[in-house]
Amino acid sequence: MYLTKEEERMLRGDDGETLRKMIEILAALGDIYGADALIPIKSAQVSGVSYKTIGDAGIEWISNLKGTIQVPTVLNPAGMDMNNWERLGIDPKFAAKQIQIIKAFESFGIAPKCTCTPYYLKGFDVSYKDHLAWGESSAISFANSVLGARTNREGGPSALAAALIGKTPDYGYHKVENRVPSLEIHVGFETKESDYGALGYVAGKFVGSKIPLFKMKSVPSKDEMKMLGAAMAASGAVALYHIDGVTPEITDKAFVYEKPAESITIERKDIDAVYESAENATIASDIVTIGCPHCSKEELEQIAALLEGKTVVKEFWIFTAREVADQNKELVSRIEKSGAKIVCDTCMVVSPAASAYHSMRVNSGKAFAYVPSMCGLKATYGTVERCVKDATGEI
Ligand code: F3S
Repeated sequence: MYLTKEEERMLRGDDGETLRKMIEILAALGDIYGADALIPIKSAQVSGVSYKTIGDAGIEWISNLKGTIQVPTVLNPAGMDMNNWERLGIDPKFAAKQIQIIKAFESFGIAPKCTCTPYYLKGFDVSYKDHLAWGESSAISFANSVLGARTNREGGPSALAAALIGKTPDYGYHKVENRVPSLEIHVGFETKESDYGALGYVAGKFVGSKIPLFKMKSVPSKDEMKMLGAAMAASGAVALYHIDGVTPEITDKAFVYEKPAESITIERKDIDAVYESAENATIASDIVTIGCPHCSKEELEQIAALLEGKTVVKEFWIFTAREVADQNKELVSRIEKSGAKIVCDTCMVVSPAASAYHSMRVNSGKAFAYVPSMCGLKATYGTVERCVKDATGEI
């Protein structure tokens, strides 16, 4: 990969050991994947933030680095609500380690904003064709597919390297020729709300890492596309999808592609099977969670309306970005009046808090895929309305 004089100087270590290590990571990726050069990025999102996932080895690695971010950079969810960690029963020893991790990231100038929905934050606006270096799979899918931006699936070290250098190697999803659909998915029935998480959960298993082009009867909202992409990234490895007539790239006349040779059809009964899985029929949940990916204002509004005048009878956690919660305090207090908890900076998967429970009801295809494997709980799937009814003892 071609390096500029400035980048070569970094690689020699003239600008310090951290930048030498960082450009070494980017140059190695560029060489492996055939990038011609590094390209500037608009923002970065660093994953590998929860102590649950990176452990002491991760703390040691980050703590040995020194540097300053060159572009707006946000963190993936941490292992706890940084302002209110006692409320979910987090062990103080875990909290001390998590605080150490966040402080290490702050030393680079990264604001301690821990979310998988950076696109809701001020300063992280994303435009069509922007180049990014994001690390959380649902955020990557949303950026690539719904916003038409360009990011590879960055690991923690490569996203941090991109943040500290302000560039990323130009390969993979940064190249328009690697963004063409390779599989058509036909969905010939009406879909709404949590159907999209179930659809993504089913589709991801067929698609793997291909780029699907959906032909859908319904037109999904951005929140619905968020749920679709998150689920496909979890049950498969989908980082980019298109929806005919909806997503920006496929509707751009300048985007040239051929009709994919392969096609599959997903039927209503495939989606219903997710709702009606054996677990749904036999296991009562002892906790309900919503907010995978983190809730938008509109999703908080829906939950607040459904909870109006009701009281929860079991733990009900709703995850969102702190900035979204701060901007919607009235919604937060309406939700919390029921006994439900708005939780920021973290989620049901990357926090150890859920391990005290046995069975979790979720409205997210991604959480449905990950809660059993990463938290050791059974998971049941339902609409937002069903989640609220479960939490308030109405079912
Ligand atoms: Fe976000 Fe955690 Fe789900 S990082 S996408 S809420 S698993």
